[in-house]
Amino acid sequence: MRYFTEEASAEVVNERMGPSVSPRLSRIMSSLVTHLHAFVKDVELTESEWGVAIDFLTRTGQICSDARQEFILLSDVLGVSMLVDAINHRTPGQATETTVFGPFHVDGAPEREMGANISLDGKGETCLFEGRVLDVDGRPIENALVDVWSDNEDGFYDVQQPGVQPPFNNRGIFRTDKDGRYAFRGIKPVAYPIPDDGPVGRMLAALGRHPWRPAHMHFLVTAPGCERLITHIFVAGDAYLTSDAVFGVKETLIVDFKPVVSPSERWRAHFDFVLAPATASRA
Ligand code: BEZ
Ligand code: FE
Repeated sequence: MRYFTEEASAEVVNERMGPSVSPRLSRIMSSLVTHLHAFVKDVELTESEWGVAIDFLTRTGQICSDARQEFILLSDVLGVSMLVDAINHRTPGQATETTVFGPFHVDGAPEREMGANISLDGKGETCLFEGRVLDVDGRPIENALVDVWSDNEDGFYDVQQPGVQPPFNNRGIFRTDKDGRYAFRGIKPVAYPIPDDGPVGRMLAALGRHPWRPAHMHFLVTAPGCERLITHIFVAGDAYLTSDAVFGVKETLIVDFKPVVSPSERWRAHFDFVLAPATASRA
């Protein structure tokens, strides 16, 4: 047993851990304490700065609700969400790259017919999204579920504007056909700021950072025997591609939205998804 000292602070705290703690929890917590103490020593944190940090975390918790998850936003803007994603999805070979899930997915969106329009508020420039879902050997996957969601032309998700947008506006689930094809109509997505009226938004402002995300369509693609794929496609040419507030952009996910002359749409975006084979799931 040692008393607490500045020099041995982390070791003293970690030595308190009981003998029957699970090896994984022990590894995570002792590393966390070691890095946290090293950080406090590195910047020689003052008592008033410590107070600001406690206040920030308190306000971050207080603004959370069923409709608002400020801690996920904090993880996103610090790049932690993308780092966890990168470590957990070192995509083999040609499998489609993953990106951040974000807070706006909704379970239970309706399954819609091939080609259906998910834009229920009639705003925005109609775009046909189409392509195939394939395995890593290039074989089409039939009956894959392609769950999609995006903001509307005003830059808001339906869940951010209850009573303003129709429920499930710009959302839907599509099932691939025997050739692995999916197709739906939506709008050409627009860039939007992440919710910035809370502590995370004020932190970004204090750091001289903007809250904008480049225009994108979200995809959650699932099929039996395959890893679940969470990704986006981004609109080529968007002004925020190189400064996404949550670091979600990957080169392979940027798509040319092509203008078309058609009575049913003004734009077309083609993207094929390649699903990795399922591996033993991680805890
Ligand atoms: C989104 O793309 O929906 C999103 C991702 C991270 C933070 C906020 C929004
Ligand atoms: Fe989004």
